Amino acid sequence: MKNLRFNIWAIIALSIFVFACDSTEDVDPDVKDPQDQNNGKDEEVAAIPLKELFKDHFPIGAAITPQHADLGTNHGEALVKHFSSVTAENVMKPDALQREKGVFTWDGADRIVQFAKSNNMKVRGHTLTWHSQSPDWMFYDQNGALLSKEVALDQLEEHITTVVSRYKGDVYAWDVVNEAMFDWDPNGEIIYREDSPWYKIFGPSYIDSAFVFARRADPDAKLFYNDYNSIFSWKRNKIYNLVKRLKDNNIPIDGVGLQGHWFVGTSEEEIRTTLDLFRGLGVEIQITELDIPVYMSNDEPGSTVYTETFSTRQKQAYKMLFQIFLDYKDIITGVTFWGIGDDATWLDKPGRKAFPFLLDENLQPKPAYFEVQKLLN
Ligand code: GLA
Repeated sequence: MKNLRFNIWAIIALSIFVFACDSTEDVDPDVKDPQDQNNGKDEEVAAIPLKELFKDHFPIGAAITPQHADLGTNHGEALVKHFSSVTAENVMKPDALQREKGVFTWDGADRIVQFAKSNNMKVRGHTLTWHSQSPDWMFYDQNGALLSKEVALDQLEEHITTVVSRYKGDVYAWDVVNEAMFDWDPNGEIIYREDSPWYKIFGPSYIDSAFVFARRADPDAKLFYNDYNSIFSWKRNKIYNLVKRLKDNNIPIDGVGLQGHWFVGTSEEEIRTTLDLFRGLGVEIQITELDIPVYMSNDEPGSTVYTETFSTRQKQAYKMLFQIFLDYKDIITGVTFWGIGDDATWLDKPGRKAFPFLLDENLQPKPAYFEVQKLLN
């Protein structure tokens, strides 16, 4: 009996020891959050708003819904406090603005633009030409057959001209074409996303036309090509070649958007190599859809609790990323998060929260936030 009790205590003591080692093993002892230093009391006071931190470098943006564009909500409050730029998460996409041919729905987009103007924020427009979230009538006739080039081109011109003209002077940058390159092709043989209805109708020339239409509608707006996985060699080379071709042919393009749907293990070297490569094109770079979920891979079991391990990973990842953004601030002209705080993100799944931002579920700064803040001090 005595032995048994001893064994139980030994097991408990060992478990506490192992748990303590495990929960601290990946915490950098040199890294102290302001929360720690202030006994968790005054992180609000200690945090400098993101837009202030980066005001001499680049706008800091968030993707939002029209409901967020309201000062009477927590989201509206966090937006004006931390962000100097907004992007419509969905309501400026083709299927939101012109679901029915010739019938434009402006309410949501107008609300966001109005909110931004009243609060001295920039607006990034997203997106004019995309294979996804675009209405069928842009590509197919009533029998489901692909449209002729002439008809599709007229419709594209009409869409871009109407949308860009409406927000002329209010939207300072547009993602003119989104995700036109083929995603996974290590041999680089398939260049474009060939299953896109745009590509099926035109080949790649729709990209050129879209930029020309956008420039014509607002000569002062910055025009971007935007894509994901752009830091991997197989894709960045395709994007490089596309942008080079456009520039060589005097097609008006000002920049490349790197979406930035990365993760806590994203390679610093790949990002720096990509920025070095694109620097040679003489274009601006914007990080357009930044979110860093806490998992090392899709196979890692999901959690709905923000653990110390997640926090440590995110501190390191965000510190690394923003150091890069600062190092390349001569070409990086904007950094936009694809959301505001951890309460709402497209990455969440039942039982598996992504916690991808610098603001937590209550829109308060996380430890990773203070890591970023330290870079500016
Ligand atoms: C892509 C698009 C965005 C958005 C995200 C996921 O990156 O560019 O508009 O749809 O996927 O939400």
